[in-house]
Amino acid sequence: MSFDSVCVVGLGYIGLPTASVLAANGMKVLGVDTNADAVRTINEGRIHIHEPDLDVAVRDAVAQGNLLAFTEPQPADAFVLAVPTPMTPDHRPDLSYVESAARAIAPVLRPGNLVVVESTIPVGATEAVCRWIAEERPDLAVPTRGADPESVGEDRIFVAHCPERVLPGQIMKELVGNDRVVGGVDEASTEAAVALYQRFCQGAILATDCRTAELCKLCENAYRDVNIAFANELSLVCERFDIDVWQLISFANRHPRVNILKPGPGVGGHCIAIDPWFIVSSAPEQTKLMRQAREVNDGKPGVVVERVKREAARLEDPVIACLGLAFKADVDDLRESPAVAITARLVEEGVGRILAVEPYVSSLPSKLTALGVVAATLEAALAEADILVLLVDHRQFREVAPSAYAGKVVVDTRGIWS
Ligand SMILES: NC(=O)c1ccc[n+]([C@@H]2O[C@H](COP(=O)([O-])OP(=O)(O)OC[C@H]3O[C@@H](n4cnc5c(N)ncnc54)[C@H](O)[C@@H]3O)[C@@H](O)[C@H]2O)c1
Repeated sequence: MSFDSVCVVGLGYIGLPTASVLAANGMKVLGVDTNADAVRTINEGRIHIHEPDLDVAVRDAVAQGNLLAFTEPQPADAFVLAVPTPMTPDHRPDLSYVESAARAIAPVLRPGNLVVVESTIPVGATEAVCRWIAEERPDLAVPTRGADPESVGEDRIFVAHCPERVLPGQIMKELVGNDRVVGGVDEASTEAAVALYQRFCQGAILATDCRTAELCKLCENAYRDVNIAFANELSLVCERFDIDVWQLISFANRHPRVNILKPGPGVGGHCIAIDPWFIVSSAPEQTKLMRQAREVNDGKPGVVVERVKREAARLEDPVIACLGLAFKADVDDLRESPAVAITARLVEEGVGRILAVEPYVSSLPSKLTALGVVAATLEAALAEADILVLLVDHRQFREVAPSAYAGKVVVDTRGIWS
């Protein structure tokens, strides 16, 4: 099967790097995004998101004529869908972007085309993509899961899921080097999708069916979430018995088969805090542990707020510095960050005067500015605050000399000043 042209739908953190890597591997890439500004920027050979080495890759791909962006889907040999899959307020996957992308490509699909969903999706969503396409294009033979291969007509298309597991900041390297799980709606779809990924992946391509591929991505993040929840629960037990959780974990991990993760103020980011819900919401009876883990981790910001309130109650007009807002160390990503939630709640509950320190962003998120929070430098916070709430283990905070916080109340949720 040959893929001379690929239409990549959704040119964000996943789609744009993928488009540039496909182009670098000799394919003609037609990128599509509903964001006209992004399309314009890309066609000028520039990028609208931040990711190391992506600028050069896009500039080269556009200069060589191998990457062109559009606001509408274009005919191609293969289609890669990399649109958002957010979570609804009641913890269900919002598949509306995937559905509109699937319906939008339907008019330009031709027999023999391959459609790969790269977005993170719940089990069964690749089959839903088939149904949406079939509704739009009754003339095409769209595969169904488990169907007899002979029963799929000649005018068929191929549909598969290939989840993305790259780490932001390393996307250009990991897109090529990571192992990939590829699962088709039927065997012929799996084979077609494997052939596409073999064109640019150096890692192993692990072939399976679409449901296994869907659950594989979700369970990777649920696994991390459950293990973090164990560490977070342990931190609550330690607080109850006045035990240093960091020392406890470091000693327990000297057991040759124990490796407890680090507790923290909660779990953030757009993957670990969300993906487990995609399993829980569709299989609630089978996922008591995963749900409990989500609840333990989601409860942790409240525990930190209560701890700060107890410390603040002992002081008059306390100044409280929240150190770090990102969801993890040394990144500027504030999505689903427990540090932002903790900072906001301290302000809302009037616990004291709040200073927010986040060395990786130039302006505070609107959720905090709306509450009147102002950004402070680390130096100012160390000088002014009575209580230092260490929420993120950024390098800048790890390098602070103990003398800088001597005599202050420290609530260290990351175990770097303990
Ligand atoms: N970013 C990551 O690190 C990462 C890692 C693994 C998996 N994922 C998954 O990959 C998917 C994409 O994530 P992302 O981070 O690239 O999102 P993103 O928000 O950065 O990019 C998505 C792009 O899709 C565009 N879009 C939305 N609807 C569209 C439509 N109908 N047609 C064309 N374009 C449309 C948006 O304008 C946006 O530019 C999600 O399912 C996400 O969960 C992301």
